[in-house]
Amino acid sequence: MYITGGASTARNCLKNLLPFHAKNNMSQVVTLEVNNGIATITINRPDKLNALNKDVFAALNLHLNEVANNAAIKSAIITGAGPKAFVAGADISEFHELSIDAAKALAKAGQDTFFTIENSSKPIIAAVNGFALGGGCELAMACHFRIASTNAKFGQPEVNLGLIPGYGGTQRLTQLIGKGRAIELLISAAVIDAATALQYGLVNYVVPQEELLAKATALLTQIGTKAPLAVGACIAAANQAFAPENKGYTAEVDAFGACFATEDMEEGTTAFLEKRAANFQGK
Ligand code: COA
Repeated sequence: MYITGGASTARNCLKNLLPFHAKNNMSQVVTLEVNNGIATITINRPDKLNALNKDVFAALNLHLNEVANNAAIKSAIITGAGPKAFVAGADISEFHELSIDAAKALAKAGQDTFFTIENSSKPIIAAVNGFALGGGCELAMACHFRIASTNAKFGQPEVNLGLIPGYGGTQRLTQLIGKGRAIELLISAAVIDAATALQYGLVNYVVPQEELLAKATALLTQIGTKAPLAVGACIAAANQAFAPENKGYTAEVDAFGACFATEDMEEGTTAFLEKRAANFQGK
């Protein structure tokens, strides 16, 4: 077993390109541990329910690069630190004062990270240990499949904030659970429990939280006995069933950016940070 700390050349090269604050925080906000060829990537901001901020994305990108380029790593698990949350969404505190262009760039960058996960030739599965909301649900959906603990909760609550998903949620939710259920969840901000997620096909298994990582490890150990090139080819072929050339992802980025010109988005995010109900005016 090892825990990455700047060992590989690729990792160090990337690290040199990152801003100072990202270098300082990356080792803490997302950790990577490798055991018997299985990497466990843990989003590690439990006090903020593992919300995805810039430092998390920088560190996540770095660890995904390690997974792709380190021959000793055969597969990966993505999970969240602490007993309460996988990831409770993008960090809403970073949304304030964003221009439309900056918001679109944020969405595009997040989509790119999640495409890296989706297109990984090495299996990457999500071990969802609690809230998987907004960007957290999108992160889980970008993984090749999902296992949930019994306390897991899934949803795309962005409309509560005057927003829409920006990291592929409108596309992958529709792919995974079908258009009718997806649109209902997207426009109602409904949060579903693990049993409903299993019934919808959003997750493959539901297990007690203390068994979650063991279940993920057991599945990847079994997959690890299969031909790696064939495994990668299966993933690539399955991804082609949902050709990324479709315009949905671009439409999502444009619509996400447009939300940032609305009073509703300002009201929704401010209300969240002020811990009060939003009063939307449809402007
Ligand atoms: N962005 C930034 N901070 C977040 C966050 C997010 N997406 N989700 C949770 N947090 C922070 C809270 O602000 C709080 O910080 P504080 O202790 O400094 O006040 C901390 O994480 C704990 O969250 P809290 O809301 O107190 O926990 P809870 O158990 O009462 O509620 C949730 C849990 C998940 C229901 C609630 O945190 C929530 O609704 N989060 C936002 C979900 C969301 O809208 N995600 C999509 C974002 S685009």
